[in-house]
Order: sequence, then C-alpha cells, then structure tokens
Amino acid sequence: MTALSVSTSSAAGLRADALVIGVAKGPKGLVPAPGAEAVAEAFDGTLAEVLATLGATGAEGEAVKVPAAAGLKAPLVLAVGLGDASEDGYPAEALRRAAGVAARTLAGVKKAALALPAESAEQIEAVALGALLGSYAFGTYKAENGKAPVGEVTVLASRKGSKEAKAAVERAVAIGEEMNRARDLVNTAPNDLNPKSFAAIAQAAGKEHGLKVEVLDEKALTKGGFGGILGVGVGSANPPRLVKVAYTHPKAKASLAFVGKGITYDSGGISLKPAGHNETMKCDMAGAAAVFAAVVAAKRLGLQVNVTAWLALAENMPSGSATRPGDVLRMYGGKTVEVLNTDAEGRLVLADAIVRAGEEHPDVIVDVATLTGAMVLALGNRTFGVMANSDELRTRLHETAEAVGEQSWPMPLPADLRKGMVDTTVADLANMGERMGGGLVAGLFLKEFVAEGIDWAHLDIAGPAFNEAGPFGYTPKGGTASAVRTLVRYAEDVAAG
Ligand code: BES
Ligand code: MN
Ligand code: ZN
Repeated sequence: MTALSVSTSSAAGLRADALVIGVAKGPKGLVPAPGAEAVAEAFDGTLAEVLATLGATGAEGEAVKVPAAAGLKAPLVLAVGLGDASEDGYPAEALRRAAGVAARTLAGVKKAALALPAESAEQIEAVALGALLGSYAFGTYKAENGKAPVGEVTVLASRKGSKEAKAAVERAVAIGEEMNRARDLVNTAPNDLNPKSFAAIAQAAGKEHGLKVEVLDEKALTKGGFGGILGVGVGSANPPRLVKVAYTHPKAKASLAFVGKGITYDSGGISLKPAGHNETMKCDMAGAAAVFAAVVAAKRLGLQVNVTAWLALAENMPSGSATRPGDVLRMYGGKTVEVLNTDAEGRLVLADAIVRAGEEHPDVIVDVATLTGAMVLALGNRTFGVMANSDELRTRLHETAEAVGEQSWPMPLPADLRKGMVDTTVADLANMGERMGGGLVAGLFLKEFVAEGIDWAHLDIAGPAFNEAGPFGYTPKGGTASAVRTLVRYAEDVAAG
C-alpha cells in the first residue's frame, strides 16, 4: 500500500521523483493553482505557456508531464487539471479527483510530492484521500502486475498548524484504507469470497481492530428462523451467514445500524440471469463490504457513536435444493413471502437482517445494497438512490453524500406501488411487484420489515458499486467502495450531535 505523509517544506526543495501541481481553466486560459508557486517561479513565467503547448487546458481528468526546470529537486513535473479556476478555494471533490488522477498517472514511480492547493485541513484530507484511492491496485491474481502503485506520496501543505495537517492525513488514511479494503472484497473472485470466507475475514479484521464480531452459521440461522437468508442460500454449496460487527463508544449518545446486502455471487438462482448479466455479479456483496468498511473506519476514527454493521451473506445459485419461484419463505420475525422471482434475492436477505437489527433498537437503520437494475436505469452508473421512511433522513443522507463527493439522488416510496406486492399473493407479501419503478418497489418491500418508530434509509448502489468502464479521478475499474464515505461522514455527524 502507498505510504502517505505530510510536509510543510517547499515544493522546490523536496526530493521526489515527480512533483505534482494543479492547473485550472481560467477566463484567459490555463492558470496554475495555489501550491504551484515555486514551480511557476522555476519556469520563470513560462509554465502556463509550456503546459498549454503540451495540450493542457486545466480540465478535470487531465494529466500533463513536463521535465522540471532548473532549481527544482524533482526531475519531473506533473500538472493535473482541477476544472474551472476558483478564487476562493477549490472544492474538496476536485482536489480528490485531481490527486487520484496524479496517483494513477504516476504508477511505477517511487516517490511523488503533491503540491496541490492544500490550505485548510479539509483540503489536505481531500488531497491525501484522493492520492490513496487513486493508487489502489488489485493484484491478487496477476503474476505480472504491470506498474506497481506509486510507493510514497508526500502531501505538501502550506499550513502552519502541522498538527492539524497530520490529523487530516491520518483521517484520510483510515478512510482510504478501509475503502480500499471494501474494493478488495468486491474484486475478489466469487470462488474465493463466499459467505464463510467473508465472515472469516470480518472476524480477523474485528480482532485486529478490537471490534465485536458474531457469526450466525446455517445451523444458527435455521434455529433462529432466518427464512429469508436461508431461502436465498439454500441452493448453494456455500451456506449463508449473518455477521454482526459491533463498535461501541462508552460515551455514545446514539446507535446506528448499517445493514449490507452480501450476495457473494448472484446467478439469479432458478430465475437464472442470462449471459451478459452475470459476469459482474461478484459485486453483489458491495453493500456488505461498504457497511463493514464503515464500521471499521468508525472504530479507527474513535467516533463517539455506536455503530453496528450487519452483513447478510449468501450465494444465490440454482440447484436441486434451490428455492423455486412459487415457494413461500417464513422470514425472521414471522412474515411470509412468496418468492415469485429468485433473482429478487437481495430484499430477502436484507429483510431478515433489518428485522434482526431492529431488535436492538438502534436510532437509525441504513441499508446499503446493489439491489436493482431499475435503479441503474434510473440514475446511471455513478449515482446511488436514497429512499427512506423519513423525509428528513432521506434529505440528510443525500446531503451527506454530496458533502463527501458521492453522487446520490433522493427517490420516493410511492404508496400505490405497494399494492402489487401485497395483493396478488398467497403469502403476506411477494418479493416482486410492478415492473415499472422496480427500484422503488424493492425499497417498499424493505420498508415492510422496519420496526415501528425506527428511522430507516435505503441506499441502492447497484449503479456506482462496480465500475465497468475505465478508471476516472480516484475511481478504479471494478469495486469502488461506493457509500463508504457517506456512511462514515453520517456517523461522524451523528457523533458530533
Ligand atoms: N443484484 C441484482 C441487481 C443488480 C443489477 C446489481 C445490476 C448490480 C447491477 C439484483 O439481485 C437483481 O437481480 N434484481 C432484479 C430484481 C427483479 C428480478 C425484480 C433486477 O433488478 O432485475
Ligand atoms: Mn438478483
Ligand atoms: Zn442481487
């Protein structure tokens, strides 16, 4: 993993293999951003011109290399685009993305120094986090890993208060490393990551970080009556698990439950997915990975709030023992569900976990799930949907996501869509309703399992959880760790009261 440090020494004097500066789109062309002063000076007033000649415009995503001028200790200058020039500080997300682009561009380089705008603690943290996320590489299965991630990154901070700067980088490291852990889990092949091995990883990490981890195996799930989780997992040779990971703070005034969909592979079950729809379905545990990463990060940050992550883990496979379309499951808590489509499995495992989480009377439940293709159709590949039984909580999570640079959008839970799910069935509910608005139908299904009096929100991350396109900003191909930052910031805000 890339090592991160912070320094207040001058950009010109720092020994590094590459020195990164920010450039932006000004009204009259490219302008160097704050932090680039020493480099501009070394180029003797020609920097903007030289970079423009090489094609730089300052646009987001851009990375232009130029040999360093005399007087700089680094041999190479890399200019990364920040988008539109700003007089009063660059937004944190622009900095995260630019730092991510820099880290990706500099793969193979030993030591990089980032002289991006980093005046406030928030900006320093953004640069550090972007660099850490951008240097992510998943190399588990490759003999030849191509270029190694950049070895060492020094964030140059203009700040005098180096104590605050250090704390900002430490926060970035805790969040970035946990996000990269979530990405690793998502990227791990489904023949290696199954409910049992995921539970074992959670146990090991819990031990490492001092978290309480409890695992219900298939026997315990049967004894407890977890019909949803069992019904989804029963077709697989890899039996299901429900994992509870608890972080408690002695002075906590609030308790949060984060529930994650953890389908380690979604074949669709008997309602088998056609080829073209199952190649990336190892990502169907991204919700569980996100809530797990968030609870570990909460612990590492020492937040004054209780956070419990619930990982609802199962493998959805077709077999002679698999649940059939037409089967009725008795869910945890007693409700019955007619399974009309075994590919609508996420809501079944989540329902059990939401009921179980509710028994501990948390103040809020937030579930995170790669739940529906319909949400991808609605919002695309980079935006998750936010649904809730409370307008206030829905707005709050949407705003929290925006504050940390995650794209989300509030979605409704229209009462009229509930009808199709409860009317036409031999059981209390069916796991399918109207096709139109399928993402909202799934949300309405989950809502049925939330105990009276508990605020609940549902994040459908089916779009942004897994990046099938090329890398951008700090986001690699594959697992993205969608929703982790939103959960962590929400927990921080709740902890702050
Ligand atoms: N895991 C899928 C949803 C999904 C789709 C995640 C694309 C990531 C990318 C989920 O279990 C599923 O199959 N949902 C069905 C529900 C339908 C059968 C009601 C869907 O969305 O088609
Ligand atoms: Mn499915
Ligand atoms: Zn699924």
